[in-house]
Amino acid sequence: VGIPEIAMRVVRWQKEHGRNHLPWQNTRDPYRVWLSEIMLQQTQVATVLDYYARFLERFPDVQSLAAAQQDDVLALWSGLGYYSRARNLHRCAQRVVSDFGGAFPRTVEELASLPGIGKSTAAAIASFCFGVRAAILDANVRRVLTRVLGFEDDLATAANERRLWALAEALLPETDLASNMPRYTQGLMDLGAGLCTPRSPTCLLCPLAEVCKAHREGNPEDYPVRTRK
Ligand code: ADE
Repeated sequence: VGIPEIAMRVVRWQKEHGRNHLPWQNTRDPYRVWLSEIMLQQTQVATVLDYYARFLERFPDVQSLAAAQQDDVLALWSGLGYYSRARNLHRCAQRVVSDFGGAFPRTVEELASLPGIGKSTAAAIASFCFGVRAAILDANVRRVLTRVLGFEDDLATAANERRLWALAEALLPETDLASNMPRYTQGLMDLGAGLCTPRSPTCLLCPLAEVCKAHREGNPEDYPVRTRK
């Protein structure tokens, strides 16, 4: 099975069976997508929904957030936990205003240079908002890809991490299909959250089952391999 086929399976499945009505999906506004990605880093979708709506009501754009007092930002974050996310959020908004004239940059590299935005979050924003061909590798997607590929190398080592990133990049939709990037990125997230769960994954419904090495060998729960946290 060629690489583009895997991407096409994810894209077709996402359209039919993925999540398509979350509030941060009916927009390509990088401010809204960025805010959702930061909130979703360590918090479940169901919890994020209320916080997201309240936050946007109070701070509808990056300028209003940048101009806010830090205490007001933290108050709106109260209950979400991991408060360094809120402090970085505020600093990031100020940097977007001071260094980028209030417009989020469009490259993964520039996005990842901002406070609180790592490589995977940068790629999510760039692919959702700008259709950039960039791989994401959050915990859910890591599980999907290591299983499909049968990637058995220990992700505790930096070299193996880099190899997995390179493989994730090789699996991206082809250039002429770049308009599928938002759906591909969302599809991997949806597979990881819904079917390709840590325990007892629902391979029966998975569009990648036929091409998944872990499924073929009957050991999806053995992935990802990581000897320490
Ligand atoms: N978790 C991280 N990003 C997400 C997204 N765009 N939709 C649903 N869950 C997510």
